[in-house]
Amino acid sequence: MTSRAAHRPVGTVTRGTTNPNRLRRMDRWIAAAHGAELRRAADPVAVDLGYGAAPWTAVELLQRLRTVAPHARVVGIEIDPARVAAAQPYERDGLAFRHGGFEIPLPGRPLLIRAANVLRQYDEPEVAGVWQRLCARLAPGGLLVEGTCDEIGRRHVWVALGPEGPRTVTFATRLGSLDRPSDLAERLPKALIHRNVPGEPVHAFLRDFDRAWAAAAPYASYGARQRWQRAVRELTADWPVTDGPVRWRQGEVTVAWEALEPRS
Ligand SMILES: C[S@@+](CC[C@H](N)C(=O)[O-])C[C@H]1O[C@@H](n2cnc3c(N)ncnc32)[C@H](O)[C@@H]1O
Repeated sequence: MTSRAAHRPVGTVTRGTTNPNRLRRMDRWIAAAHGAELRRAADPVAVDLGYGAAPWTAVELLQRLRTVAPHARVVGIEIDPARVAAAQPYERDGLAFRHGGFEIPLPGRPLLIRAANVLRQYDEPEVAGVWQRLCARLAPGGLLVEGTCDEIGRRHVWVALGPEGPRTVTFATRLGSLDRPSDLAERLPKALIHRNVPGEPVHAFLRDFDRAWAAAAPYASYGARQRWQRAVRELTADWPVTDGPVRWRQGEVTVAWEALEPRS
């Protein structure tokens, strides 16, 4: 007989706060960055891990992925069984909800695992182990996207990881709401938020970004979008920015993980 422990999901039930459209910036980035991979796959499965008290983010992830990969499927996985029961009436073609945790209880390997606003409620030392566990569940060519945003998705920071480990950090914001780039510091993912202190790379990055933003002030008369693009272009002199103007125009910038990785 199998023990109960064998079926116990890995992780802890946490607050279920969510909101419709909260993760639109992350969804759009995933569609752009990972769409070709999802489109090529015979059975492109994406996991919305820790979708929360309502199933909206999983429903929306499916809609947005299907614009680039018409056969994509989404499985919402939640550690709180009551939230799974509440979501199941919303199941439909391509959308299912399952009880589970970081073990990702699926028969195969997903091509995408998205965990938004999940690890922020864990302790920093737990992050590396969770990343490893989730990366080990990815299909070859798969992507883990793990990050944090505010309640209505105006400010967002996430890390993208491949099966081999972390690759990039993306900062995404509604530009009209931004005083300075370091406003995004409060939404850094768990792996970085406690490292926004002098001597750590992420602190130096946000300091340089604020300086570039200040230097780009004359562009504000053309709009915050122009100012952001100018500031990011300035940043590319010293920081390994991995994307280009098409993404910058969306109020995004993506930087290689190695440049922001905590020192110890
Ligand atoms: C703050 S909500 C985030 C909801 C949604 N992802 C969003 O960003 O709006 C976090 C959810 O993650 C769930 N959770 C925490 N640890 C988990 C784990 N190990 N596996 C699956 N779900 C988990 C919690 O139960 C909670 O419902």
